[in-house]
Amino acid sequence: MNLDKLKTTDGVDVKGKRVLVRADLNVPVKDAKVTDATRLERLIPGLKDLSGRGARVIIISHFGRPKNGPEAQFSLKPVADALSGLLGGPVTFVDDCVGEAASGAIAQVTDGGIAVLENLRFHKGEEKNDGAFAAELAKLGDIFVGDAFSCAHRAHASTEGLTHHLPSYAGPLLMEEINALRTALEKPRRPVAAIVGGMKVSTKIEVLTNLVAKVDKLVIGGGMANTFLQSLGRMTGQSITEPDYHATAREIMAQAKQKNCELILPVDALVADAFAEDVDTQIVAIEKVPFDKMILDVGPKSIAHVNKVLEGCQTVLWNGPMGAFEIRKFATGTFEVAKKVAELTKAGKMVSVAGGGDTVAALNAAGVTQDFTYVSTAGGAFLEWLEGRELPGIAALTR
Ligand code: 3PG
Repeated sequence: MNLDKLKTTDGVDVKGKRVLVRADLNVPVKDAKVTDATRLERLIPGLKDLSGRGARVIIISHFGRPKNGPEAQFSLKPVADALSGLLGGPVTFVDDCVGEAASGAIAQVTDGGIAVLENLRFHKGEEKNDGAFAAELAKLGDIFVGDAFSCAHRAHASTEGLTHHLPSYAGPLLMEEINALRTALEKPRRPVAAIVGGMKVSTKIEVLTNLVAKVDKLVIGGGMANTFLQSLGRMTGQSITEPDYHATAREIMAQAKQKNCELILPVDALVADAFAEDVDTQIVAIEKVPFDKMILDVGPKSIAHVNKVLEGCQTVLWNGPMGAFEIRKFATGTFEVAKKVAELTKAGKMVSVAGGGDTVAALNAAGVTQDFTYVSTAGGAFLEWLEGRELPGIAALTR
């Protein structure tokens, strides 16, 4: 996959054309209201640009994981309403994404108009990447714009299939995500550090294996650090660990050594009886975790060490929290490191790129999201990119 071959609609005359935009409108909704509009907000400039150039913008997306055809709880209608609010103008909602309902409604869209079609996953052909379904979708547009980086790890009709039927372009948000990740991983300003946290080693083996070959420092945090520590013979009390992955952890450490990547594990920890609001906490050296306690955050010495390491780095890539930040008393490690990255970025000393569901929630809670160079809105796709995999929705746009 040659990313330099991605082309955008810049310079393409889109006036009067039906532009099918694959966006990711998969946002949290509660009681028919969007509760976090970040993904929608990021789409707005690209949509306004197309509309301003006279395109007839037809937005297609999935929402949730419906398995049995149309279901009211998976309708994109509330999201289309929220999008209309953000755009400050009308958005036509069409209650099917193919067939006569769709073609009839789209025929009414005028130059500069914007329509949202109902959930693609109401049709089985979407996830199967069915050629006939992709051809049906293609009838609704003159050109295709893939602007859903966060869905690019799915080889579905709307991400991959459509590119076989229509002239296809990369959207501005997709380009922004790719450029940010390339800056951090392909030709980063060195030294480059990666912070990888979260619960389990098992879900991030490929991420870790890929990163040790690319970064100079790898900070391991969160529950997965416990498995690494245990694999080195440390006692981790009642902490969550994955004993089946001791060998994997040792293998990753060996690879890090071989690739000259400094792997950084906690040297102290904040421990408690349970993951709960009303427990007493204690700071202990990592060799002294009591057998009846669990590790829920990194301790102050670990934070100071990580922050010192970061001061010597020019690029940082972050996925996964340092501790169980969802409860404030276990959030200090994540917040203090996040603040350091934000401070270094603001001072122009560091390029910082973060992504993944929990990570974004953690950075939002720390109040530093806006100070990072780039925070990706992608979850699974961000992880697969970190694993070094080719994402089918992007590869298709480079052909
Ligand atoms: C996401 O929220 O990560 C994307 O919208 C992809 O959703 P999916 O995991 O249901 O394919």
